[in-house]
Amino acid sequence: MEKTRAQWGSKVGFILAAAGSAVGLGNIWKFPGRAFEGGGGSFLLIYLLIVIFLGVPLMLTELSVGRASQASVVSAFQKLGHKGYSWIGWIGVAGAFVITCYYCHVGGWVLRYVFGYAVDASAIYSDSPGYFYQMLGYHADGSTSFPWVAVLFAAVFMALTAIVIIRGVESGIERFNKIGMPALFILLLILLFRAATLPGASAGFRYMLSFDWSKVSFETVLAALGQAFYSLSIGMAIMITYGSYLPKTENIGKNTMLICAMDTLVAILAGFIIVPAVFATLGRDQVGKGGGFAFVSLAGVFEQMPGGSLFGILFYLLLLFAALTSCISLVESIVAFTTERFPWERRSATIGVCTVMFLIGCLYTCSQAAFPIKGVWFDAANGVSFPPFCDFMEFLTDRVMIPVCALGCCVFVGWVWRPENAIAEMEQNGIRFGLAPVYRVLVKYVAPLAILTILIMSFATGKTLS
Ligand code: PHE
Repeated sequence: MEKTRAQWGSKVGFILAAAGSAVGLGNIWKFPGRAFEGGGGSFLLIYLLIVIFLGVPLMLTELSVGRASQASVVSAFQKLGHKGYSWIGWIGVAGAFVITCYYCHVGGWVLRYVFGYAVDASAIYSDSPGYFYQMLGYHADGSTSFPWVAVLFAAVFMALTAIVIIRGVESGIERFNKIGMPALFILLLILLFRAATLPGASAGFRYMLSFDWSKVSFETVLAALGQAFYSLSIGMAIMITYGSYLPKTENIGKNTMLICAMDTLVAILAGFIIVPAVFATLGRDQVGKGGGFAFVSLAGVFEQMPGGSLFGILFYLLLLFAALTSCISLVESIVAFTTERFPWERRSATIGVCTVMFLIGCLYTCSQAAFPIKGVWFDAANGVSFPPFCDFMEFLTDRVMIPVCALGCCVFVGWVWRPENAIAEMEQNGIRFGLAPVYRVLVKYVAPLAILTILIMSFATGKTLS
C-alpha cells in the first residue's frame, strides 16, 4: 500500500510553500488590529520574543517530525514508534479543520473586495464600514438579512482551493506560490510608502513605535502567543505534513529561520501600513473596530492614492493569493490525513471535506452581524458564557487547539522522542545545526512551560480578546 511520497520540486518551492502557508490573512487581517490593541511597540516586542523563543523551536520540531516520519500528522507519531502520542496529530487535524471552516469565509470576503474595487470602488469609498457590514447582512437601517454575497464568494474561494489541492502538491501549490509571494511583498512596500506619506499618518507610526505598557496585560501576551502560532502555521501539525514532503538534503534550520523571518516581516509591514492609515483616514478611535480591519480601514488609503482603485484590486488580489496558499496548506494536511487513513481517493476526499467545512463556516459569517448564533465557553473567571459563534470558533482554535497541539509537540520531542533525534534529522547529509544546544533547552523546558502557563492562565482569567 506504500505510495511514494510526493516531494517539493525545488528548494525555492518548499520555502515559498511553507511561507505561503504562514503568510496569510493572519498577517494582514488579524495582526495590525492586535498590535494596536496591545499598545503598538510593546506588542511588537512581545510578539518578536515569542516568535524567536517559541515559534522557531516549534517550527523546527514540526518539520523534523514530519521529515523523519515521512507521514502525515496522525501516523507521524506512530511511525516514529510512539502510537500513544497520535492524539497530538488528531488535535492538529481538528484544529486545521475548524480554522479552515472560517478561513474560507474570510477568504471569500477578500474575493468580494477584489470585485468591489474592480466594479464600483466609489461604493466602498463612500461608506466603507457600511459596505463591509452590508456584505455580512447588516444594513444601515439596522435590519438584517442572510449574507448571500459573503457566502457565495466564500463558496467560490473554497472551490478554488479544492481545485489546486486536486491538482497535487507540485504542480498546484508550488507554482502558485512562486509568483504570488514576491508580488505580495513588493505591493506591501508600495503601500507602506503611500501610507507613510498620508497626512496624519505619523501619529500612527509613533504609536507603533512607542511602548504603551499600560495597555499590556496578561491578555496581550496571550493574544501575541495565539497570533504568533496562528501566523506561523504552527500548532496544527501543518508543518509536519509539509516537512514530510521535504527532501533529506534540505536544511531544516535555515528554512525555518527564513520562513519565520518572512512571515514576521509581512505582519510587521502590514501593521505599519494599516495602523497609520487608519490614524490618518478614519481617526484613531476607529482602529481595531470589529473584524473589518483590513477591509474597512484601507479604503481611505486607496481613495487618496492616484490610481487607487487599481491598487485596491491589486492589494486584495494579493491578499487573496496569500489567503489561498494558507487555505491550501490547511486543506492539504486534512486531505493527506484522510486519504492516508481511509480508503478515499484524493479527489473525492477533497470535495467532501471542503463542502463540509464551507457549510460549517456559514455559521461564522452569519453570526458576524446578521444572526445571534452563539457558542458556549467556559472559564474560571466568568463561568459559562455564550459568545457569538464566530468568536467561539476563534477561541476554540487560538486558545485551546493550537496551544495544546503545540504543547504536545514540544513534550513529544523534548521528552519522548528526544531532541537528539530531531537534531539528527536536522543534521542529515552533513548539515550542521549550530543552535542545537539552545534548541534542546527551548524545546524541553522553555516552550512547554511557557505554553502551559499561558494555557492555564487563559482559562483562569478568561478575558475575551475581541
Ligand atoms: N498562517 C496562516 C495565516 O497567517 C493561517 C494558517 C494557520 C494557515 C494554520 C495554516 C495553518 O493566515
